[in-house]
Amino acid sequence: MASSWTNNDAIRQWNISTTRKAMEASAKDGDFAKRHLVNPVLLRLLGDVRGLRVLDAGCGNGYFSRMLAEYGAQVVGVEPTEVMSAFAREKETESRQGVTYVQADLTRLPDLGGLFDAAVCSMVLMAIPDWKPAMRPCVQALRPGGLFVFAVVHPAFEQLWGSRREHGEYRTRRYLAEYEIVGPSASDFHRPISAYLNELVSLGCRLREFAEPGLDPAVAAAAQPGIAGIDGYVHLPNFLIVSAEVAS
Ligand SMILES: C[S@@+](CC[C@H](N)C(=O)[O-])C[C@H]1O[C@@H](n2cnc3c(N)ncnc32)[C@H](O)[C@@H]1O
Repeated sequence: MASSWTNNDAIRQWNISTTRKAMEASAKDGDFAKRHLVNPVLLRLLGDVRGLRVLDAGCGNGYFSRMLAEYGAQVVGVEPTEVMSAFAREKETESRQGVTYVQADLTRLPDLGGLFDAAVCSMVLMAIPDWKPAMRPCVQALRPGGLFVFAVVHPAFEQLWGSRREHGEYRTRRYLAEYEIVGPSASDFHRPISAYLNELVSLGCRLREFAEPGLDPAVAAAAQPGIAGIDGYVHLPNFLIVSAEVAS
């Protein structure tokens, strides 16, 4: 771990910085990037989830748990912050999709009622300073042959949008070191791609797919000129999405 942050500090920061307005704005299917780049890949990698027991690890406001429930999965969403888990439970009370939300830190998971067929951990691991003890329980929660899918901000292109806006090209100064990236609401923590992949291997997982989605140029054109620098998403991958299988 490269920073002085503890996992509790990070959770506290998410709890303080997350507004009701932001949760409402992304409650249906996330934000622009999730809609166009992350969700379609996660859903494709998870495949047909009908009847499957799926863990949404670090579910935030629960939007992806609700999407999975719409596709017929039995979903347990785990989220450590009071503010986001309360919002997710509120949505469940309104829509009664049968999603179970549990307020917990991934590094200290309570009994979630048995093994899962799949676990998704979307945009969470780079938000956790000491992340390995959070990835491990996601894998251990799976049945033999179960699928683990995770998405992170791509470690090689983290400042993509801002850098394209400022310089008209992508620039980075550091890749190999681990460091904190101060974000608009909460901090992320950079580590190289090899750190994530080697940890997966050490947990006994077999890599199935490594996805680096780019934005459809037509979607970028339709968003212009409203979103300056958006063309960066067409040419470079801002997200790294990995699917892996637990040994049978
Ligand atoms: C960028 S948000 C992503 C949330 C959600 N998966 C989504 O895609 O909208 C990062 C999430 O990681 C959660 N998180 C941070 N530390 C965590 C931990 N130790 N265990 C579980 N979740 C954590 C935060 O509370 C926040 O909900």
